Amino acid sequence: MATNITFHASALTRDERNTLRNQKGLTIWLTGLSASGKSTIAVELEHQLLRDRNVHAYRLDGDNIRFGLNKDLGFSETDRNENIRRIAEVAKLFADSSSVAITSFISPYRKDRDTARQLHEVVAPGEATGLPFVEVYIDVPVEVAEQRDPKGLYKKAREGIIKDFTGISAPYEAPVNPEVHIKNVDLPIPEAVKQIIDYLDSKGYLPPKKE
Ligand code: ADX
Repeated sequence: MATNITFHASALTRDERNTLRNQKGLTIWLTGLSASGKSTIAVELEHQLLRDRNVHAYRLDGDNIRFGLNKDLGFSETDRNENIRRIAEVAKLFADSSSVAITSFISPYRKDRDTARQLHEVVAPGEATGLPFVEVYIDVPVEVAEQRDPKGLYKKAREGIIKDFTGISAPYEAPVNPEVHIKNVDLPIPEAVKQIIDYLDSKGYLPPKKE
């Protein structure tokens, strides 16, 4: 625990930074079971935001982040709490820098997602508003995710080779009030992405589409 530390403010408020960058910083938080389609949707969303809207967007992906920043963490409840706590802090830094952070983590615990939201939405001293936090539920029944099983992990979980597997032997607490709810069964990827972009547009979070 660090002591004797003092927060050093920037010369710019978030609004001023956003105006100079011509972009609003925010976090798009995808949550859902393994094999629900989070990473695939995140890749296409990131691409569209960069290509079509000139928005600086960057993905933070569960599997990828566990190769580096979070390689010391496993899948116990405590480790998942810490995984999400760190990612919420990193996403907030991206959002604060006027970027769009797109996170794709199972993030199975409601409390952890709510904490991530609060971290963004709290209004810091000197700021007019908090940072937008857009929770997107990628909703796929566990039976469908298990049938897809692209990495063969559900099979291993059923065989008891993988312990604490979300949806099989560990819980997934579905969002109650997500900003966007995508029922991702038989839905083409562009349609799923469109639902997110339509929401962002309805809130005025994105610059106009390039002609
Ligand atoms: S979270 O629960 O802490 O949010 P995270 O999204 O980072 O999980 O990582 C999930 C990915 O790790 C899955 O897509 C899968 O590839 C892999 N994985 C390995 N073991 C497990 C497990 N026990 N439960 C869920 N996912 C697992």
